[in-house]
Amino acid sequence: MLEVRDLTVAFGRRRSRFVAVDNVSLAVAADETVGLVGESGSGKTTVARAVVGLVRPDAGAVTLDGVRLGPVGRRPAVQQRAVQMVFQDPRSSLNPLMTVATIVNEAWRTHPSSAPAGDRTTALHRLLDDVGLDASVAGQRADELSGGQCQRVSIARALAVKPRLLVCDEAVSALDVSVQAQILRLLVDLRERHHLAMLFISHDLGVVHQIADRIAVMRRGVLVEQGPATAVLGSPQHEYTRSLLDAALELNTDMAER
Ligand SMILES: Nc1ncnc2c1ncn2[C@@H]1O[C@H](COP(=O)(O)OP(=O)(O)OP(=O)(O)O)[C@@H](O)[C@H]1O
Ligand SMILES: [Mg+2]
Repeated sequence: MLEVRDLTVAFGRRRSRFVAVDNVSLAVAADETVGLVGESGSGKTTVARAVVGLVRPDAGAVTLDGVRLGPVGRRPAVQQRAVQMVFQDPRSSLNPLMTVATIVNEAWRTHPSSAPAGDRTTALHRLLDDVGLDASVAGQRADELSGGQCQRVSIARALAVKPRLLVCDEAVSALDVSVQAQILRLLVDLRERHHLAMLFISHDLGVVHQIADRIAVMRRGVLVEQGPATAVLGSPQHEYTRSLLDAALELNTDMAER
């Protein structure tokens, strides 16, 4: 469904030119979750931004069902709707002064073709229920909500326009471990109920392990390995993947010992 082909993104010019993403190719099938992992600065967010059209590729292309996706401003509404992003920090990605109802209504206003035909309040409550929020949250402002609740609202806003692909960039990284687990479960659940494809980005292999069908590993802008999650985690082919796995294991052992 989604195809990233030979994607290259560079920042700066001439001598300060820096290739953040170097010839990366990956695909996400319908109903599939692909985990994109790699250390900080490896280019994961840049790939995500290229997929949603927030950064222009220097080379290569992003296609949805074989149709090339342009920059976000030039994407036909149907393509814009189809690919939605959930960001790391729910607080800065939501307007703190808007109520939850307004946030969702804005999404429907931006994409009228996704707006409910019937009663909006009923549709809003159903959407909130879908992401595990009580209907009473509708009248609350984003700055009155917890981090976990904010992330549920971000997910609701994305779901409101009925996307086919959700790009989650470190969507659980800023949350407490217990909340992290809840949001992960929610995403797994939503993915199945709504037949969503996902590009799930995280620096945390333990988190990716819980959700991804396939895993792609990036290092310094280059995709060094990709394959079924069981294969990549069970018998990593690339030394860098092994070092990521070792680091994740050490962290877990440290935590268990504490
Ligand atoms: N707008 C920009 N201008 C210049 N350099 C940038 C820009 N965006 C990203 N970079 C650089 O590109 C590289 C890749 O950044 P990116 O944010 O994609 O990495 P990441 O894998 O998402 O890292 P993290 O795990 O910290 O989120 C980094 O070296 C970063 O400094
Ligand atoms: Mg990032």
